[in-house]
Amino acid sequence: MRLIRTTTLLAVLAALLLLTLDGAYAQDDKAFIEYRQKIMQSQLANIGAIGDIMKHNLPFAKNVAMHAEAIHATSQLIPIAFEKKVTAGDTDAKPDIWSDYSGFKEKAKALQEESEKLAQVAKSGDRDAIGAQLKKVGGACGACHKEYRKPKEESYKMKMQK
Ligand code: HEC
Repeated sequence: MRLIRTTTLLAVLAALLLLTLDGAYAQDDKAFIEYRQKIMQSQLANIGAIGDIMKHNLPFAKNVAMHAEAIHATSQLIPIAFEKKVTAGDTDAKPDIWSDYSGFKEKAKALQEESEKLAQVAKSGDRDAIGAQLKKVGGACGACHKEYRKPKEESYKMKMQK
């Protein structure tokens, strides 16, 4: 009798421990997803700010180089932020990132290079050259999204709206 009770108790304890570990793990994953999405949001905020300056001819032309440098700095964090494979949860990251991690890193490197060039071109103050290089930066975002981010229709954001 006592033996049975001990075994039952141990089984319950083991199950509880697993639950706790599982819970901690899921929460951890969520934090990884939210972190990498914040890096992306900062990319959007900076490229959007450059777009505003250019489109509305705001008197902040000098800031363009700084925004480009911010994109350059955060683009260097992309490979680290995505290193841990997390595919479940509110994320649009395709599993292809981790089956082809070197390809993914190449795309991050392309953004690093194009944003660095934009920072240089911005200092020249040549509007046309800045506009042309800004397109290349946008192209580097799009090239990675096309391959490694789920399309809009499959986005977690769509699911949240339903
Ligand atoms: C090396 C690949 C790569 C590059 C380069 C890249 N992104 Fe992303 N981006 C992703 C991936 C993957 C996701 C999906 C992340 C997730 O949901 O976990 C994403 C998601 C996003 C999101 C949505 C974030 C959210 O809150 O769900 C925005 C906005 C974004 N990217 C903007 C940009 C901009 C702007 C650039 C260029 C300046 C850029 N990205 C460059 C891979 C990239």
